[in-house]
Amino acid sequence: MTPFDALAGRLKAGGVPFRREVPLAGLTWLGVGGSAPILAEPRHEGDLDLLYREAAALGVRLECLGSGANLLVDDGPLPFAVLRLTAEPFRRIALADGVLTVGAGTVLESAVWKAVEAGLAGMEGLVGIPATVGGALAMNAGGRHAEIGPLVRRVRAAGPGGMRELSGEACGFAYRRSGLGGLTVVEAELVLAPGDAPALAESARGIRDAKRRTQPLQDASAGCMFKNPSGDSAGRLIEAAGMKGVSQGRAAVSSLHANFLVNLGGATADDIRCLVERVRDAVRRVHGVDLEPEVVRWP
Ligand code: EPU
Repeated sequence: MTPFDALAGRLKAGGVPFRREVPLAGLTWLGVGGSAPILAEPRHEGDLDLLYREAAALGVRLECLGSGANLLVDDGPLPFAVLRLTAEPFRRIALADGVLTVGAGTVLESAVWKAVEAGLAGMEGLVGIPATVGGALAMNAGGRHAEIGPLVRRVRAAGPGGMRELSGEACGFAYRRSGLGGLTVVEAELVLAPGDAPALAESARGIRDAKRRTQPLQDASAGCMFKNPSGDSAGRLIEAAGMKGVSQGRAAVSSLHANFLVNLGGATADDIRCLVERVRDAVRRVHGVDLEPEVVRWP
């Protein structure tokens, strides 16, 4: 009996919903990768707590899958169990006194528009970022216009040691990362500022339209593949290194925005990984810059 079999037995006994051997390609934007030995979808915090305790007792690593937007899953079976916060208690959203209290399973875009429509400023620059709120916090999602981290006042998270609360400062937000690794965010409080709803909506629409013009949002990709090196743009460096449009198997460097690697249909994780290395080699050779991937890789 493997530790995954043992965990499955305990989840079944505890009533925690789960499936075995679940292919993850269909749950990620890139659409590549192997399967999770267990995919659990806790019904509430009690289930989540039980899942963490049982996994820790059995020495099984747990990872949380958000909307799979910024993730490259390798081919072959994963060596850890995966959970998703799809149940209703993890998707609640409430506004009071300028504070948005939002469940980690909520789609970021719906939280953005909820704030905008209520005339609260701070989230409009996060428009068009595909993520759940939990995933956005884990990565400190953002772009030129905004980052989610500075809005955070408090986070509730689950981990092997049980549920805990962290201040925004304790979350360790930095450029496209946080110190929340090993924890699963359950809920967050975001502090917003009073604003003018029509003006915020116009600003959000402007940002969204600019992204549609400059980014291949119709294609299967994980968004920007590399972090921008300080003071420069990864897309510009990749294009100037002659890699725009280059393909590897069924993966290609987007000819619209060179920092997006796209699945042309039928790509493997290996195609993507080889292309990532070719792009890095070319940029190193031409510019002497070592690009750091932004996309999270499993395992
Ligand atoms: N550029 C090129 N060639 C390209 C792409 C871009 O020369 O193929 C040039 C552009 O002309 C521009 C500069 O590079 O002068 C910057 O490009 P862009 O305005 O598209 O922004 P970016 O720095 O590439 C960042 C974020 C995006 C975010 C946009 C808009 C990073 C790594 N990327 O892109 O975030 O959408 O700003 O806010 O921070 C993501 O994180 O997944 C992502 C897409």
